Amino acid sequence: MIAVRDFTYTYPAAPRPALIDINLEIAPGQFVGVVGANGAGKSTLCYALSGFIPDFYRGDVKGSLSVAGRDLCKTPVAELAGEVGLVFANPFNQITGARFTVREELAFGLENLGRPRDEMVARVDEALRLTGLTELADRSPYALSGGQQQRVAIASVIVLRPKVLVLDEPTSQLDPVGAREVFETLDALTGEGATVILAEHKLEWIAAHADRVIALRGGRVAADGTPREVLADASAEELGLMPTRYTLAARLAATQGVVKRDGPLPVTLDEAREFFGGRQREGA
Ligand SMILES: Nc1ncnc2c1ncn2[C@@H]1O[C@H](COP(=O)(O)OP(=O)(O)OP(=O)(O)O)[C@@H](O)[C@H]1O
Ligand SMILES: [Mg+2]
Repeated sequence: MIAVRDFTYTYPAAPRPALIDINLEIAPGQFVGVVGANGAGKSTLCYALSGFIPDFYRGDVKGSLSVAGRDLCKTPVAELAGEVGLVFANPFNQITGARFTVREELAFGLENLGRPRDEMVARVDEALRLTGLTELADRSPYALSGGQQQRVAIASVIVLRPKVLVLDEPTSQLDPVGAREVFETLDALTGEGATVILAEHKLEWIAAHADRVIALRGGRVAADGTPREVLADASAEELGLMPTRYTLAARLAATQGVVKRDGPLPVTLDEAREFFGGRQREGA
């Protein structure tokens, strides 16, 4: 449903492209983590997949990106609201502050689109439910915790019903409680059929929630597979990816001969449990 073909993008006056020869197909309902070192191109891929290139970020584009057959580079970003939506790292960038309550904040984008009142109410209620904000609907967005504010930012995008939700490090300003709230919200959204594309440095969260991990290096796709295939691979560190503590523990145990196992190392707690729990105790 998302198709990226031979996509190369150079920011204005940049000496070299930020994305090079990207080819991807992303199926509806997938939860895709985009990982890589600083400067690898994660944010740029987010901007491209949400239609901000070249409409907002000008520069030189080669190849194509499309969502449900609509070319993202040839459609003005305002016309893409039903296709894709972008959530930024800092919820303050997304909350307009033009309204007094969470409910009004969510209705704001729809008012601008001139939707009928009944439809607006229904969409706002649905977005509140999906983000777990129903109880907070009449509070001021500014009276909420960071995690709650980021959920308001997500809700203000999903109220427009994009098929694809793109998030650029949405938990980087949040504590672990806030990060958990955001990831649980994203799980709920993919459960309802939305496609989620998430650039993230917190690899343990990616390992636990994403179906697929795309690793970028120097603007190119360097690895693409399940979290375990990409993050537990010996070459992950060369891509600037810090292994999860489960991978580190398992690797140490395997190197020291504490656990004898073939196959991939664990990246999540559940996989680690299986890796360590099923071990044969020698001499026991
Ligand atoms: N507005 C811009 N103009 C010119 N070059 C840019 C611009 N934004 C980013 N770049 C360059 O594009 C490349 C990719 O940057 P990008 O921000 O996409 O990386 P990133 O993976 O998101 O990094 P980080 O982990 O720091 O967020 C880098 O070389 C960066 O310097
Ligand atoms: Mg970035």
